Amino acid sequence: MAPLPLLTWLENTWRPPAGIYDLVTNDLTQAEPADAAPRTVLRVCLVGATGTIGRATLRALVRRGHDVVCFSRPPKGGGAFAREGDGEAEVRIVDFSDPASLRGDGFRGERFDAVVSCMASRTGAPKDAWAVDHQAHLNLLAAAREAGVGHFVLLSAICVQKPLLAFQYAKLAFEAALIDSGLKYSIVRPTAFFKSLSGQIERVRRGKPFLVFGDGELTSCKPIGDDDLATYLAECLEDERRWNRILPIGGPGEAITPREQGAFLFALLDRPPKFRSAPVGLLDGIIGALGLVAPLSPRLAEKAELARIGRYYATESMLWLNPETGRYDAAATPSTGVETLFDFYTAVIEGRSAPERGDHAVF
Ligand SMILES: NC(=O)c1ccc[n+]([C@@H]2O[C@H](COP(=O)([O-])OP(=O)(O)OC[C@H]3O[C@@H](n4cnc5c(N)ncnc54)[C@H](OP(=O)(O)O)[C@@H]3O)[C@@H](O)[C@H]2O)c1
Repeated sequence: MAPLPLLTWLENTWRPPAGIYDLVTNDLTQAEPADAAPRTVLRVCLVGATGTIGRATLRALVRRGHDVVCFSRPPKGGGAFAREGDGEAEVRIVDFSDPASLRGDGFRGERFDAVVSCMASRTGAPKDAWAVDHQAHLNLLAAAREAGVGHFVLLSAICVQKPLLAFQYAKLAFEAALIDSGLKYSIVRPTAFFKSLSGQIERVRRGKPFLVFGDGELTSCKPIGDDDLATYLAECLEDERRWNRILPIGGPGEAITPREQGAFLFALLDRPPKFRSAPVGLLDGIIGALGLVAPLSPRLAEKAELARIGRYYATESMLWLNPETGRYDAAATPSTGVETLFDFYTAVIEGRSAPERGDHAVF
C-alpha cells in the first residue's frame, strides 16, 4: 500500500483515542450501576454538549431530572445546537478562551452545583489540543470555582495512561490541575467509542477487505456505547464511589481485537472473511518522512501528528494498563452498560443506527 492511500485510510478508519503509570483508581466496584433516579435535582453546567458524548450526556442528565445549562461556542454556520430528542436545556454561548465571557455570559453569578465537561479538541492537533483540552478547561475550572461549583466531572480518555501524543499531554496537564484545585472531581477515562470502530463498515459492505495492522491481533479494547458512557458520567454526580477518583471504564463483554471486529462484520453480512494487512513498519516510514517535511508547513506537521496518532492506535490497546507489569489487562478493565459494539454493528447493518463521521477521522 502506497503511503498516501494509507494516510487516507488512516483518516477514514482509525479514529479512537486512548496510557505513564499514574494514580488511576482501578476499582471494579465502580462498574456497579448507581440508583436510576438522582437523589437530588442538581443545577449542572454541561460543556461539549454538541459533541458525540456531550449530546448523549445531555439526554442522560435531563432524563435524571437535573436542571442543565449548556455552555457552547457559537454553532458553526448557525446550525442546530442539538438534535431532536437530545433533551431540553438552556444554551449559553460563551468564549472559552476568555475568562470574562465564562463569568459574564456563562455562570452570570448564578448558583451551579456541578460542571460536566465533554469538551475536547475536534482535531487532536497539538495547538488546538492545548487550547481546548488544557487552556479552555483551566479557564472553565477557574470560573467554576469562582461561581462556587462543588463538583467537576471530566470526560478524559484511557489512552492518557501511556502518553506519547500532544493531546494526551494536554489532557493530563488539565487532569493534574483539576486534582490540585481542591474541587471534588470525577475523571472518567473511557475506552474506545463505537464511532471510532465503525469506519470500515461501509467498505466491507461494498465488498472490500477489512484492513488491519499486522495480524489484526496487536491490540484489543472494550468498546463503550455513547449512551452507556453518558449514563456513567451522569451517575458520577450521585455516586460517592466515583468522587475524587480517576475512573477507567469500558463497555460490556470481552475485549475484542480488530480481526474479531472484521470477522463479526463479515458474518453479519453473510460473506467469507477478507482481510488486508499493513505492517506497522509502514507507519514508521510515513512518520519518518512526514517528520522531515513537517517543519515546512503547519498542515504537514498536523499530518505527521495524525500518522503518530494512527500508529498509537495500531499498537496500543484501549484497556487498563497495569503499572506493575506494564501490560494491558482486559479482565481488570472495569465495564459498564449494556450495548456491545456488535449490537451496534448489527443496528447499523440493519439500518437502525448510523455511525457518526467526524471531520477528523482520527477521533
Ligand atoms: N473517540 C474515541 O474512541 C474516544 C475514546 C476515549 C475517549 N475519547 C475522548 O472523549 C472526548 C469527547 O469525545 P467526543 O467524540 O464526544 O467529542 P466530539 O464529538 O469531537 O465533541 C467535542 C465537543 O467539544 C466542543 N469543542 C471543541 N473545541 C471547542 C472550543 N474551542 N470551544 C468550545 N467547545 C469546543 C465541540 O463543540 P463544537 O460542536 O462547537 O465543535 C463539541 O461539543 C475527547 O476528549 C476524546 O479524547 C474519545
